[in-house]
Amino acid sequence: MKNNIRELINANGQPLVLIGMMGTGKSHFGRMLSQTLKLDYFDSDALVEEKAGCSIAEIFERWGEDNFRSVEAKTIQEYMQKGPCVISTGGGAILNAESAEDIFLNAVSIWVDAPVDIILERVKKNKNRPLLACENPADVLQELMQVRKPIYERARYKIASGDGAAEKALDTLLNDIKTDLMRNETE
Ligand code: S3P
Repeated sequence: MKNNIRELINANGQPLVLIGMMGTGKSHFGRMLSQTLKLDYFDSDALVEEKAGCSIAEIFERWGEDNFRSVEAKTIQEYMQKGPCVISTGGGAILNAESAEDIFLNAVSIWVDAPVDIILERVKKNKNRPLLACENPADVLQELMQVRKPIYERARYKIASGDGAAEKALDTLLNDIKTDLMRNETE
């Protein structure tokens, strides 16, 4: 029986996909996960920016949110075909029903969560989040969270960001994934 997590992930064949609100640290955890597991890392926002040749803020401004969402969905569906790798998604990616189904059925889905006050603190200085470029980002965040939380909650795993060492959270996550994959192997 395999007891090496990398071998188990390879045998399972699914990508590890991080979902959750902006500013929760998905990219940070994603990079840590990919380094620890020696898997390729992809960030859907960066991939969309690369395709469009401009920033997320500019994409929203020039083509609108709906167009951004459709390129985002296509990008995620495309990279999910790669098998074992780590994909960090934009906070609203799960609003696309097809992407959500794909992630929850065909990936090791990981919800990175953080309290709204921590998110606000983190996103304050970043101008590349058009949804929060408004008078009342705290209210907007609360509203987005309310709509999205029931979807994020469908993830197989959850990481609480912002309340302790990221390494410890990552260790616990990897142990949980390993236990589940080993159990699947024997079933
Ligand atoms: C968004 C989150 C952003 C980016 C875009 C929209 C959202 O990604 O995709 O600004 O709707 O929550 P991050 O979650 O990586 O910040």
